[in-house]
Amino acid sequence: MNNNILCIGAGYVGGPTMAMIAYKCHDVNVTIVDINQERIDAWNSDELPIYEPGLEEIVKERRGKNLFFSTNIEQGIIDNDIIFVSVNTPTKTFGHGAGYAADLQYWEKCARHIREVANSDKIVIEKSTLPVRTAAAMARILEHGSKEIKFTVLSNPEFLAEGTAIDDLQNPDRVLIGGPQNEQGKFAIEKLAAIYAQWVDDSKILRTNLWSSELSKLTANAFLAQRVSSINSISALCEQTEADVSEVAHAIGADKRIGPKFLKASIGFGGSCFKKDILNLVYICETYGLTECAEYWKQVVIMNEYQESRFVARMLKAMFNTIAGKKIAILGFAFKADTGDTRESPAIKVCKELLQENAIITISDPQALKSAKKDLADVSNIENIIFEPDPYKAAENAHAIALLTDWKNYKKLDFKKIYDSMEKPAFFFDGRNHIDSDMLYSIGFNVYTIGQTQKTHL
Ligand code: UDX
Ligand code: UDX
Repeated sequence: MNNNILCIGAGYVGGPTMAMIAYKCHDVNVTIVDINQERIDAWNSDELPIYEPGLEEIVKERRGKNLFFSTNIEQGIIDNDIIFVSVNTPTKTFGHGAGYAADLQYWEKCARHIREVANSDKIVIEKSTLPVRTAAAMARILEHGSKEIKFTVLSNPEFLAEGTAIDDLQNPDRVLIGGPQNEQGKFAIEKLAAIYAQWVDDSKILRTNLWSSELSKLTANAFLAQRVSSINSISALCEQTEADVSEVAHAIGADKRIGPKFLKASIGFGGSCFKKDILNLVYICETYGLTECAEYWKQVVIMNEYQESRFVARMLKAMFNTIAGKKIAILGFAFKADTGDTRESPAIKVCKELLQENAIITISDPQALKSAKKDLADVSNIENIIFEPDPYKAAENAHAIALLTDWKNYKKLDFKKIYDSMEKPAFFFDGRNHIDSDMLYSIGFNVYTIGQTQKTHL
């Protein structure tokens, strides 16, 4: 068995993760394959298909040396004995479990493909987030061939967050490897652990059984999202009571048992994982008849949707209950700063609701305008949308600004200049509590932040 690595799926997870392995382990050849030719071409070009600080540097350093991008999946399977599968596992849109369960068709196709093409023993690693016990199904598919080949299925979920992927990969809190608790499984776990051990301390490499590993990934995302929904529920209460959600978050976060992270009230969480993984957890709980557990986790998603709609309702109410024909500048469309990713971004729902009210929206974002165009392609009044990279131009003659992504460069904008160019009264709705509200108010804006009392001149 060789040490060469193949990764099927060159997305937000597969791309950076494998680039980091190639960067840290020069003695290992890493090949990333994908069915999408355009994506592979982009990985081989000067403009990578995803924006992630620090990624370009490591890809450019290793590409062509021990890091390769290709669409030749068959050759990849033949040449490499360690195979990561990092294809997408979206929420099912059809049939049983539609809207909740994970759609495993791509994963299953990959397993069958590996079985057909392989002519030596393989370690097959789940990098995609999958429902607990998927590995068992995959092992059954792989072992169902006529060839005398040993397949070992491991689970090695990825905990990187977008925008900080490179740092998260370089200094992970932990690396989790789950595998069968037999000799063959333990051998495979140690083979994978040895790769990570080239830059991660062994005490941080956790070895578990397969099911614990699969479930830990879903649970980690559910816990993180739950914190955001919890503080967002308190933000609604703060807006009614003159309590300030950032003061509450600071006060509770000082308790070591709670801790300060993931307590930032916002317009809501987005990203490809939180909602999908929670719904998946809900589905699994239901499958096992655990209705109360399912309902408990479902509420995290319901609270998030409430927070997005509440934001738009507040805008509408503040602007005299009508925004028809009014220009609204949207600052930020990505689901968080430092990424061009807009999957499940709260901005999608906010913009669609504003368009339903016949507002004219001008969307600005340093990285996500291309994706934003795709996300809003299906709205009926598309002529009411303007895409404008320059935030100053986006705000010209606008009645309101809605800040939806906490890009650092927005803090440096000249808000006096922006205010002067806008219609009056000018409104500022800060969905991230990102800009100094006292400063905005002193310039003349009517300021609405999350979980704080509004500051208005009206
Ligand atoms: C995805 C899932 O969202 C996440 O839950 C999981 O943990 C890892 O995979 P991400 O990398 O962000 O995360 O997805 P995406 O950017 O869509 O990348 C998946 C890639 O797999 C795409 O480039 C797609 O073309 C490719 N793919 C998909 C294949 O190569 N073969 C397939 O059969 C299906
Ligand atoms: C998440 C997990 O953090 C990561 O471990 C997992 O591998 C993938 O899913 P990601 O979705 O990339 O990562 O970003 P994350 O930083 O977790 O933010 C998710 C969303 O929650 C963003 O929209 C962010 O703005 C929001 N958020 C986060 C808040 O609103 N408040 C917070 O305090 C933290």
